[in-house]
Amino acid sequence: MNIKMVDLYGQYLGIRDEIDRAMAEVVESSSFIKGPAVEQLEAGLCSFLGVRHCIACGSGTDALTLSLMAAGIGHGDEVIMPAFSFAAVAEAVALLGACPVFADVDASTFNLDISSMERMISPRTKAVVPVHLFGQPCDMEKIMDVAQLHGLIVIEDNAQSLGALCRFSDGSGRRAGSIGHLGCTSFFPSKVLGCFGDGGAVFTDDGHLASMVRSLANHGQSFKYHHEHVGLNSRLDSLQAAVLNAKLPHLESWITARRQAAEYYSEGLRDLGQVHLPVESPGGTHVWHQYTLRVPHECRDGLKEMLAEAGIPSMVYYPAPLFGQPAYQDLCSYDMLMENAGKLCGEVLSLPMHSELSRAQQDEIIWVIRRYFTGE
Ligand SMILES: Cc1ncc(COP(=O)(O)O)c(C=O)c1O
Repeated sequence: MNIKMVDLYGQYLGIRDEIDRAMAEVVESSSFIKGPAVEQLEAGLCSFLGVRHCIACGSGTDALTLSLMAAGIGHGDEVIMPAFSFAAVAEAVALLGACPVFADVDASTFNLDISSMERMISPRTKAVVPVHLFGQPCDMEKIMDVAQLHGLIVIEDNAQSLGALCRFSDGSGRRAGSIGHLGCTSFFPSKVLGCFGDGGAVFTDDGHLASMVRSLANHGQSFKYHHEHVGLNSRLDSLQAAVLNAKLPHLESWITARRQAAEYYSEGLRDLGQVHLPVESPGGTHVWHQYTLRVPHECRDGLKEMLAEAGIPSMVYYPAPLFGQPAYQDLCSYDMLMENAGKLCGEVLSLPMHSELSRAQQDEIIWVIRRYFTGE
């Protein structure tokens, strides 16, 4: 059946003419860096997220690095982040000479546990980076309240959840990535909105932070050959922007397809006692970057193997908590009362999830999982 974790070619085929035309326009204009396609993308993302400023850059990791730099994070500062996540935030923080501080996550939403985050606040804490993991937005209302109380900068890592909505207690809602002082995303090809290489963006409503990020991403220049800051070369190229401009109008419908696929998995697996299904927290709208099961540790690798034998890929995101990674062991501190991050690493299994997944493919996946647990 040729089931893939992510079907990038299938998605391309669905809008091939639009993408090819957009890329050809860039080639014809030869405006490869900082061209009109980048401006169009930044404007499109501002209106999609409801933010004032968007700065496209070289990757999601660069977006985090630029945001931390613009926020003035440096030597001796502490930055709180979840221990169960991708390493990019820890990497960016450590490269700036600051200290990654790991907090626990909630076992059902996979997102930052706010009481653990509060436990880790110290006089050296400068910022917190909530990660909207697997497509699920964090509880930004509570995080912003705690941050305000302690004077912390909030940088959202929205690499996996572009399009997700956070709801607030007054009934209003805002897109994930638009709520903190700065928000970051990645356009890595397999992301909900992916380009054909590396790419990322920073979002903010703050004009000062926006011009800092824009300058830092372009060698710290405030105007040509005037280097006000020590910066980076991190610009999204116009060909990637053209791909993203062609894809952005389809993002909502791809998210709807992902939401339907998630519902279909959950219907097919709901009665399996040993399987914890991923949930959508009531405070937000999930965009299902990943559909991640939790199964007993002793079953996880066997299930993965049985799926592989049936030609079905699956992935362990993430096999080890970040505080246990060799690179960060000696650099970081972490919540000693942490209960979930390490345990989840032994239990999680992400199933194929993308907007092109067919019901027949999902039936096959569900059937294999059911067979593993029921023997039928
Ligand atoms: C949660 C998270 N943060 C940051 C990144 C970094 O993005 P990039 O690969 O574009 O540097 C990724 C993606 O891989 C991610 O999943």
